[in-house]
Amino acid sequence: MPTTCVIGLLWGDEGKGKIIDLFAAEADWVVRYGGGHNAGHTLVRGGERLVLHLVPSAILRPGVRNVIGNGVVVDPFHLRDEIAKLRQRGVTVELGTNLLVADGAHVILPVHRALDGLSERMRGDAKLGTTGRGIGPAYADRASRAGVRIGDLVRPARLDAALHRLLAEKNAILRACGDEPLDAARLRDELLELGAFMKPGIVDAGRLLREAHRRGERILCEGAQGVLLDVDHGTYPFVTSSNASSGGIASGTGLPPQALGRVIGVVKAYATRVGSGPFPTELDGEFAHRLREAGREYGSTTGRPRRVGWFDAVAARHAAQVSGTTEIVMTNLDVLRGMGSLRVARSYRLANDSGAEVEHFPAFDLDGVRPVFDEYAGFDEDLTRMRRWTDLPANARRYVDAVEARIGVPIATVSVGPERDQVIQRSAIQKPAIQNE
Ligand code: IMP
Repeated sequence: MPTTCVIGLLWGDEGKGKIIDLFAAEADWVVRYGGGHNAGHTLVRGGERLVLHLVPSAILRPGVRNVIGNGVVVDPFHLRDEIAKLRQRGVTVELGTNLLVADGAHVILPVHRALDGLSERMRGDAKLGTTGRGIGPAYADRASRAGVRIGDLVRPARLDAALHRLLAEKNAILRACGDEPLDAARLRDELLELGAFMKPGIVDAGRLLREAHRRGERILCEGAQGVLLDVDHGTYPFVTSSNASSGGIASGTGLPPQALGRVIGVVKAYATRVGSGPFPTELDGEFAHRLREAGREYGSTTGRPRRVGWFDAVAARHAAQVSGTTEIVMTNLDVLRGMGSLRVARSYRLANDSGAEVEHFPAFDLDGVRPVFDEYAGFDEDLTRMRRWTDLPANARRYVDAVEARIGVPIATVSVGPERDQVIQRSAIQKPAIQNE
């Protein structure tokens, strides 16, 4: 049984939470493979809104095992709070039963949060606009072999050694910056307490997943952020610190690369971005305000207003090709109602001396590029109650068809509202010809 993966194709916030919850109806396991509580995956049920940051998005599905994989960075203080909040809302979360945490996942400590803030302050105007959750510094410590892992929290001698390694360096930095050094003994006690809380759910997740895969069980990998925030294939340095694209799955779960089959790429019907960095199709002024309000485009983790823009087929095509996307889900099509004519960027005109028009994603020449748009007639109908492709107004269908042709991957599903049932499956999909880069 090939593993399915749901990833964001642009800069995150594509509405993956709802889509993962939807596809989880056909899954035995749902696995996060990267990122941390910088993510905000929103589920809406009967008008009630639930935002998940670290807990995988199938937690409402009875019988599904939700796994936080080894590629995730876990703030155990946050995880305990998120579990408590979910339980207060009546959600069943049982560590060891429907929630498992990989022993190899790295731990985000309070010092990582402090260093995230410090590095942003030091960058001044060039700051990345991170979520401030300590994600980057935790991944940096993983790479420099100074990290603490979840499995260490239930092994006091290993935890002592890991904290010794880490705090010697971190406290020197904090002192040099005039900040208070960390109290190692207090941190150790807190981490051991958190380890005891998490213990029933701490597992060798890679082994469990490989065994499940061999037994033919259905595994769904849950992407966080989006391909354009991938540390290797995104708009570096304005990216997150992990491989958000499908490339991160094998290393972030312990599944072999051959296990991956279907890659479902999620795009919004328009583009958004939070934080700094290039955004070629960005809109401003009154129209941007209207689109932001119509789509309620405010960060589900930080509450920041999201930057909004027209659909960018150059960026989406790059992301689909890098990630091996086999089908696309387009969300928020309903939001484009009443927006007048709609634009899609089909190429960019470079700002450098050549002034060339390019169809590939020019990762090193994004500054000042001007998108070349195609324009499509808009629609005024309310789509939120439509459930069949043929119910959609002709202009909405033409828009989806045009985006599909530009990306070169079938748009198999369209979402027309936040609720689980507000989706339209297209039948008899013809795979369009792949567009050249
Ligand atoms: P970090 O992941 O907190 O280090 O932030 C790095 C960049 O990724 C910033 O631009 C964030 O706004 C962005 N980012 C991180 N997580 C998400 C997400 O889940 N959705 C959208 N943007 C995100």
